[in-house]
Amino acid sequence: MKTKIYIAKKIPSHVEEYIGKYCDYEKYEGEDAAGYEELLSKLHDKEGVMLSGTKVDKNLLECAPLLKVVSNISVGYNNFDIGAMKEKGVMGTNTPGVLNDTVADLIFALILSAARKIVEMDSYVREGKWISTDAEKMFGKDVHHSTLGIIGMGRIGQDVAKRARFGFDMDVLYYNRKRKAEVEEKLGVKYADLNTLLRQSDFVLVMTSLTDETYHMIDEEQFNLMKRDAIFINVSRGATVNEKALIKALEEKKISGAGLDVYEKEPIDMDNPLIKMPNVVLTPHIGSATKKTRNDMAMLAAQNLVKALCGEIPPNIVPELKA
Ligand code: DGY
Repeated sequence: MKTKIYIAKKIPSHVEEYIGKYCDYEKYEGEDAAGYEELLSKLHDKEGVMLSGTKVDKNLLECAPLLKVVSNISVGYNNFDIGAMKEKGVMGTNTPGVLNDTVADLIFALILSAARKIVEMDSYVREGKWISTDAEKMFGKDVHHSTLGIIGMGRIGQDVAKRARFGFDMDVLYYNRKRKAEVEEKLGVKYADLNTLLRQSDFVLVMTSLTDETYHMIDEEQFNLMKRDAIFINVSRGATVNEKALIKALEEKKISGAGLDVYEKEPIDMDNPLIKMPNVVLTPHIGSATKKTRNDMAMLAAQNLVKALCGEIPPNIVPELKA
C-alpha cells in the first residue's frame, strides 16, 4: 500500500503525477492553498504533507499522529515550530536554490521602481497628469553608482550583489551573522557592522530569514540611522521589520521611500497607511512567483517529500532539524 499524503496547495499536474507514482495523495481542490483549519481536518491519516507557509505548530502535529514529513514549498520556513517538530520527530524540508535568481530579479524591480518612481509615474500618464517632464516631483534617485546595503548575505543576497556590482556599478556593503571572505573576494562586496551599513547605504535591503533573533531587527532606532534619502527594501519576511516604525519613518520623512514584498500581516489590511503612500512600491509576496520557478519549487518539494517517505535522506532538510 502506498503512503498517504496531503497536498495543501495547487501544484502543476506533472508534479502531481510524479507524487502519484509513490504516494496516495489527497489534494486541496480550491484555487490557492488550504488554510490552517482545513489542514487540521486532513492530516489524521497522513504521513506527509506539502504546503507553503501554513503554521506547523504543536496543535497541528497533535492532529497528525502518523506525520513523518512536512515539505514546505518555499525557502523560508518560519512557519515551522521547530521545537514541536523536533519533539514529535517530524522532518521538515524547504526549497532553497531554485528561486534565487527570480527573487533577486524582483528585488531589483523594487529598487528600480521605488528609485525611479515607476508606479507613481505610470499613474501620472494614465490619469492625464503628464504636462511636462521637468517637474521636480518626477525626479527620482540614481541606482547606478550608489551604495546598496544588504542585510543577510545568503544565496539570494549574493545574487542581488552580483546584479548590483556588475550590472549597476554599485558599491555593496553587507551585514551577516558570519563574515564571508570568499563572497567578498568573488563579488567585491564589503562587510560592515549593521549601524555602519545603515548610515552609509542609499538602498537598504533586508534579506535575512525570520528567526527569534531577527524579529523586528529593523526598528525605530535603525530607521533613525539611515540616510534621509535612503530607500528601504524588504523581501525577507514582514516581521524582520517593525512595520509601525517603518510607517513612522516614512511619515516623518526619515527615509525617502520603500519597496516591499512582505508585510507583518498578509494579505495587508486595506487601512494600512502604506497603501496610501505614493513613495512606497508594494507587491503581494511574489518574490519567487514566476511560472518556471514556482514549478521548480513544487517539484523540489515533491522530491524532498518522496525521498523522506522512501526512507532516504532528502537533500533539503532544514538545518535546525538535521540529525
Ligand atoms: C520563500 O520561498 O520563502 C519566498 O518568500 C517565496 O516568495
